[in-house]
Amino acid sequence: MSDSVRRHDGGSDRPATGAASRDDEGSETPVRPPEPDGLPVLGNVHSIAADGLDFYERRAAERGGVARYDVFGTESYLLTDPDAIRRVLVEDHATYVKGEMPREQLGNLLGDGLFLAEGERWHEQRTAMRSAFFRERVDEYGDAMVEHARRTVDGWDDGDAVDLHETATGYAFSVLAESLLGDDIERERETVRAAAESITERFDMRRLASFLPEWVPTPTNRRYRRRLDALRGAIADLVAERRAAGPPADPGSADDLLGTLVAAAELGALNDDELVDNAVTFLFAGHETSALGLTYTLHALATHPDIQERVRREVAAFDDDPSPAEVRGCPALTAAVDEALRLYPPVHTFFREPTEPVTLGGYRIPAGVVVSLSPWVVHRDDRWWDDPETYRPERWLHESPSGSAPSGDGSASGEVAVGDDAPGPAVGERPEYAYFPFGGGPRHCIGMRFARQELRLATATLLRRVRLEAVDEEIELRASANTRPAGPVRVRIHELAE
Ligand code: HEM
Repeated sequence: MSDSVRRHDGGSDRPATGAASRDDEGSETPVRPPEPDGLPVLGNVHSIAADGLDFYERRAAERGGVARYDVFGTESYLLTDPDAIRRVLVEDHATYVKGEMPREQLGNLLGDGLFLAEGERWHEQRTAMRSAFFRERVDEYGDAMVEHARRTVDGWDDGDAVDLHETATGYAFSVLAESLLGDDIERERETVRAAAESITERFDMRRLASFLPEWVPTPTNRRYRRRLDALRGAIADLVAERRAAGPPADPGSADDLLGTLVAAAELGALNDDELVDNAVTFLFAGHETSALGLTYTLHALATHPDIQERVRREVAAFDDDPSPAEVRGCPALTAAVDEALRLYPPVHTFFREPTEPVTLGGYRIPAGVVVSLSPWVVHRDDRWWDDPETYRPERWLHESPSGSAPSGDGSASGEVAVGDDAPGPAVGERPEYAYFPFGGGPRHCIGMRFARQELRLATATLLRRVRLEAVDEEIELRASANTRPAGPVRVRIHELAE
């Protein structure tokens, strides 16, 4: 564990995976991974609910790169071998679907939106939406990212102790809601906020009740359904208004993400239900993850004043708050964000299901099981990362061949951290999928550029105005749907002299 969060066991003494001794193409007869050790029916669910991150780490440390576990009788395999992960996400991606498990948990929320859609439906949607996430389009969301960060600082007084998680959640919600709905957010803010809050609560895996299906009428589930219906209704009304006003001709030229979706629907890439599903998908996939990324970046900087100072020097060199292009040229800032996403990946685990029997890491995996891919475990593997549990942004920096920064703006340090398309290269030899906070292959996070830009712009805008001092040096993390802090993440605010 890092120097600022509680320690887990695990790490170095992991057994060799089957991959070391067997050929993945099957030249030896592959075997099934060892059976799980959980309780009848429940499987390992108690250990996961108690501390999922710790469970995943221990399971990988004890059993290697392909480790069996069970959840309520569902056969599951934790995959932490980067080459096997690459095969699942890239080379053999067509052999895998997202599958039953995410659909059972998220299907009522995300419907047939991009996150859960499969096959041709997914491909058509992704193709129609991709231009909205090209660099020049994402740049246009930069003003909202900076403006909301300025407002965040305006709400602070010198000496305040603020909870970064709460602050970053409010910030990321405001940015995403505005990016999604444009000016219409003014009317719908409360409906969207209430739904986002209920979604977060419904998928809080610290509560055993979150493992129950949505139709079980717990108070949380009932509130969630009511607020989600209100959100869907509000979005459907806005869509009708946008259509009446004349939608943009192509998805990439829309002013906001809802405009992108309406244009994609006009092109026939989405039906009306899928359009609303996708608006909810953006809200769900894009707001809590970014908030967590910002929380952990700022907390790491608060607990590492020297690194904070270095990033501040870089961003204070601009006359005004930096633009998206300028922060792309800030190596120390970029490295600070990318390292936080390594140490505390907001999505600790995501899932696939093989549609036919496959061989991974030398093991035979049947069709229809859950394959779990865990950035959390892989990002902390000391085979790929020196001193993996320490926050060390300098691992992402290296001297450029010419000794000068590549883009020329914002940095005179001569160090390079690669801009917004590829998160790296980190110094040192390691497999490509030793770092994958945004997933990988054709289904990698469509919002990756948006998120990395948001984290850099928010961090830059804040650090130009305040110094952050850690109040809660140690933070405890929990595997919920995402990697959430178990309690407040407080820092003290010190205003900088003008
Ligand atoms: C730090 C912030 C973020 C992190 C760590 C993150 C992480 C991820 C990961 C790991 C996946 C892949 C899941 C899988 O393959 O099963 C994913 C997919 C996705 N993300 Fe993000 N995400 C972030 C921000 C965003 C934002 C800001 C948006 C929207 C504006 C977004 C929208 C999506 C969508 C729609 C998908 C599904 C893509 C597809 O299947 O084609 N994400 N994200």
